[in-house]
Formats: sequence, structure tokens, C-alpha cells
Amino acid sequence: MAVISKEEISLQKDFINKIYDINSRKDIKPLAFVETYGCAQNFNDSEKICGMLSDMGYGFTEDKLLADIIIYNTCAVRENAEKRVYGNIGAIKNIKKKKENLLLGVCGCMVQQEAIAENVKKRYPYVDMIFGTHALYRFPEILYNALNEKRVFDVENSDGAICEDISCHRDAPPLAKIPIMYGCNNFCTYCIVPYVRGRERSRKMENILAEVRQVADEGYKEVMLLGQNVNSYGNDFEDGTTFASLLKEVCKIDGIERVRFMTSHPKDISDELISVMASEEKICKQLHLPVQCGSSRVLKLMNRKYTKEQYLETIQKVREKMPEIVLTTDIIVGFPGETNEDFEETIDVLKKVRYDTIFSFIYSKRGGTPAATMEDCLTDEEKHKNFDRLLEVQNQISKEKNDEYLGKIEKILVEGESKTNPDTLSGRTDGGKIVNFKGDASLIGKIIDVKITKTQTWSLSGEMEK
Ligand code: 5AD
Ligand code: SF4
Repeated sequence: MAVISKEEISLQKDFINKIYDINSRKDIKPLAFVETYGCAQNFNDSEKICGMLSDMGYGFTEDKLLADIIIYNTCAVRENAEKRVYGNIGAIKNIKKKKENLLLGVCGCMVQQEAIAENVKKRYPYVDMIFGTHALYRFPEILYNALNEKRVFDVENSDGAICEDISCHRDAPPLAKIPIMYGCNNFCTYCIVPYVRGRERSRKMENILAEVRQVADEGYKEVMLLGQNVNSYGNDFEDGTTFASLLKEVCKIDGIERVRFMTSHPKDISDELISVMASEEKICKQLHLPVQCGSSRVLKLMNRKYTKEQYLETIQKVREKMPEIVLTTDIIVGFPGETNEDFEETIDVLKKVRYDTIFSFIYSKRGGTPAATMEDCLTDEEKHKNFDRLLEVQNQISKEKNDEYLGKIEKILVEGESKTNPDTLSGRTDGGKIVNFKGDASLIGKIIDVKITKTQTWSLSGEMEK
């Protein structure tokens, strides 16, 4: 498996130093604005972009108008996110007219697709840097060239490599995201990810553990282990390393009190994983297990490699070992060829599993994927009708699931002030449910007992136990 060489890393460090020298001679610290779309992996990539920017002497701003450099880290999973990016790039044109030295970069999954990258290059001549996911570690060099008035276009196709040693500018404690593997080999027929993120490659266990120890030392209490398909962790080592064995080691690290992970593929959930999850106290009893669809016929068209029955069996096994587990899933409505009867199977899965929350999407055609050429059965109107019904059924279940928490005392890791109400703190249960309650900001980062006094569809409210 390709690992970025020490020479290449040191070359990039030279660029970091050169840019730092330029910036340190300025009277005012230059500012960067970084906007991220998509999944947790992409957010982690942005933490690395920000880590490199910070090493190069940049500060950060939430206001585009104050920025000296703007970066859009894009997502290609659905068309909606792409449209927003195009809108945002378009809006920078006027800002650039007024601010000559402003640099604009577009990176990530969208521009890892050559045709899209070429389109951005042609349609928006004022974009200074276009670079794909595989070029992330070359960002210092890309930025150095852009500062020297070269337009940079770096979207080389690749199976992907692993680059350790990039600084990471994380959100403040208590939560840290740690990638354990990159890429995906599953080629679900609707999904663009395997084309833009390359083949599955696992980080060495020692590097992951070193990073977890480091964040523990910095005061982080919870780690979220990330991968497109975490259950395949270690498959590329051929030494018997499994995801479950990694989890056991992560749990041994002092200071880390909670361990979560995302995303699991239903076909790869092993009995070993279920029993490690059940027996390790630090592993949160939460599982995100994307079903995508309830019809075995459609699942086959999607290349998911499990049937509805097999999926339901897995859920049963998980629940037998962990009755308190919080289950969430992803669902695609309107996959090509899906009929109303197929959709009823999805509703049936919802009713049988009774997820706590679902993330549902209307199918979005992705150029270059096998599903893009498959025939559609339903009209847009029918798809939207099914989508609305899905939400209606699930909202009722979500509320009922949350109602089960009324009167219970839950251990909450306090994450920060509530987004909607500044006098209120917000945290999560072990199962990942959001709980809002009144309390002092000094509690942030602590695990405290909160009695649940009120429930909503999406969150819980409570009172701190004295
Ligand atoms: N259209 C709609 N949803 C999609 N997803 C992936 N590709 C598509 C697509 N083409 C959804 C899947 C996946 C989640 C991250 O995004 O449900 O689990
Ligand atoms: Fe996409 Fe399927 Fe891979 Fe998930 S497992 S990233 S849905 S191809």
C-alpha cells in the first residue's frame, strides 16, 4: 500500500516554512475561511487543511469578506451539495473583484472527478486552486504556487495513499475525529465515493493509537473512528488485524472515555465486533448501519451484498447482545427500478427495526456510476410522496423511542453551549442522543448525570442531577 515518502513530506514542510516566512513578515496575520460539505471524512480533511494553514501562519475567520484565502472542500455524493458549491463559487466573483489578493481554492470529492474539475476550471477562471482528495497533502505546494500567481490544477487520478504527519486543527475538546482507513472497495452502484476516494487502505494501528493518545493528552474525552467502511479495517494487512482488535486497543487508552465509529457496512459486521462492542464499556452503544433499502431485489441492484432478511438477522443479533443499542441508518428513496412495492419493504424494515433516527435521501444520479444508466420506474412526484411518507413513519417512531427516556437518568458528555439557546448546555448520551439542559459552561468536557424531563423528535431535554 502506498505511503507518502518522508522526502515528499519534507518537501511539503519546506513549502510550509516558506509560506510561514512570507506571512510572518506581514503586519496583520492573514485569515482563511474554510467551508466543508459532506461527510465526517471530509470534515477531517478540512481539519488537516486548517492544520496546514495554521502551520503556514494563517488565522481563521467565519466571515468570507475578511478572508485572504477561501477554500471550499466539496462533496460529490449528491447533486444538492454540488449545486450549493457552484452557487458559492459564483458568489466569490464580486468579492475577488474588490480584493485583488484574495485566493480561492476548490478541493475535495467534487473536483476529484476530472470532468467536473475541468468544468470548474473553464467556467470560473478566477478559481486559483483546484485540487482533488488525493492531492490534499500537497496543499502547501499548491498554495505556494498560487501565491506566486500560478493557477494550480491538481486532480490526478489515483488509488490513493496514506499520509501521516499532517497537522490537524481540531475543534476544541471533548470530541476528536480520527480516520482509521481511507477509500472504499464496495462499489455500491449509486455511489461515487469509490471513484473519488480510491481503494480501501488502513492506517497502521500504531499510528492510530499514537493519535488517540495524543488527543487524550490534549484533553479530548471521546474519539470517533472514521472510515467509509470501518469493518474492513485491517483487511489489507493480511496479519489477522481486525477492526474489533483495533477497538480493544483504543479502549485501553487512559483519558478516552467514549469510543464511537462510523460507518459500518451490514455485510461486514462480524460476531467478534458485536461481542467487543457489548463487552467494552467505553464503546458507545450506538450503531449506524445503513440499510439503504428494504427490498432484496433493489439491494441486489444496488450491489449491497445482503438481503432484507440477512440485515434483519444482524439487527437481531446486535439487539440480543446490546438491548439498549441506539440504531440509526441511511435510506435512499427512488433508486432506479424501485417500485412502490419495493418501497413498502423499506417501510416494513423501519417498522421492524424501529431505528432511533434515519438519514434519508432521494436518489441522485451520479455520472460514471452503474446506476446512472439504469431505468427509472417512478416519477419524481411518486418519489417525493414516498419520501414524505418515510419521514412521517420514522418521525413517529423517533418520538416514541425518545419518549422511552422520560424520567431516566443518563450519563451525558457535555459538548458545549446549545446551538439554539446560549443559556443551555448540550451533550450526548452514550447512545449519541442530543440532550439540552441548564448548566454552567465549566461542565464542558465532563460526563455528568442528567435526568430526562422532556422529549422531542430530534432531541431530549433534562435537568442536571445534584
Ligand atoms: N443518491 C442519494 N443518496 C446517496 N448516498 C450515496 N450515494 C447516493 C446517491 N447517489 C447516500 C447513502 C449513503 C450516504 C452517505 O449517502 O445512503 O449511505
Ligand atoms: Fe458508497 Fe457503498 Fe462505499 Fe458506502 S460502502 S462509500 S455507499 S460505495
